Amino acid sequence: MADLTTRVGSMTLKNPIMPASGTFGLEMAEVFDLDCLGALVLKTVTPHLRSGNPVPRVCELEGGMLNSIGIPSKGGQYLIENTLPKFAPYSAPVVVSISADSAEAFAEFAESLSATNIDAIEANISCPNIEDDGKAFAMSAEATFKVISAIRRATHLPLWAKLSPNVGAPADIARAAEDAGADALVTTNTMLGMAVDVRTRAFKLGNIMGGLSGPALKPIALRVTYQCARAVSIPVIGCGGISSATDIMEYLIAGATAVQVGTANFIDPSIMPKLVTALADALDAEGIARSEDLVGAAISGDREIARVEEIA
Ligand SMILES: Cc1cc2nc3c(=O)[nH]c(=O)nc-3n(C[C@H](O)[C@H](O)[C@H](O)COP(=O)(O)O)c2cc1C
Repeated sequence: MADLTTRVGSMTLKNPIMPASGTFGLEMAEVFDLDCLGALVLKTVTPHLRSGNPVPRVCELEGGMLNSIGIPSKGGQYLIENTLPKFAPYSAPVVVSISADSAEAFAEFAESLSATNIDAIEANISCPNIEDDGKAFAMSAEATFKVISAIRRATHLPLWAKLSPNVGAPADIARAAEDAGADALVTTNTMLGMAVDVRTRAFKLGNIMGGLSGPALKPIALRVTYQCARAVSIPVIGCGGISSATDIMEYLIAGATAVQVGTANFIDPSIMPKLVTALADALDAEGIARSEDLVGAAISGDREIARVEEIA
């Protein structure tokens, strides 16, 4: 059987498949053995209690869904005292996704997590930065560098930076995160979208705009993954519209080292273990011994196309 062992920086994962933040919870342990996954990525937590956005917070679309959950959170103390102990029985690495409204608050929160036994921090920087007029950190290379550097100084834990697809030059943001000391990138969070209800003549989401995820996001996130993987030498974890072994292989070939599965978990809560088996089977069928052998297979010899892409 194909070897799915995957190295993400200093971490060794048993396979490249893990949940995307916000689409996974401990209740999934009732459906499958969580230790069959490469890592367990928790829903984003903020340092303090947060209520989230007005309802409705999700709506279904033909090619996926829109959400404007707004990161409701019980805060860091609750995470440390109540949530993390529940993950102690599992051997899969636990990755805590964090968010805050300033670089300093991000760093303080990361520091408070350093004393726990988590395996990595994923910085969700697609959130508003109060020091930049509420513009998301991940929208600017400068803000990305500042926040990732601040977190880097505050913790020795492996640090993943989760990027946004809503930017013109993702490679610049990726390089800023790498220069600031990120150990890996996650590409991508959701793409900004909107939906209108013709019958009620109103917006479908309480927050008017929301994040597009699911199959419709895949070509965009795949492209961003490729652009970032070309630009940096740290691992890139692909995320967006993954629901099959073929999707995973596409991401690996485009340069991803590992992948995250989001919206597909809502359609089939047991999809992730199925994908682990399906990926091994698909690699076997192709005669590929190790999933890592596929990583970046399309990147060599792509210089000319890549140059055009940099201009666009
Ligand atoms: C309902 C929902 C909640 C989400 N919550 C978070 C979150 O808390 N933190 C985060 O970084 N991303 C969050 N995301 C984004 C996902 O982690 C992922 O980046 C995105 O959905 C793209 O992957 P997908 O197309 O496989 O869903 C959420 C997505 C959905 C659909």
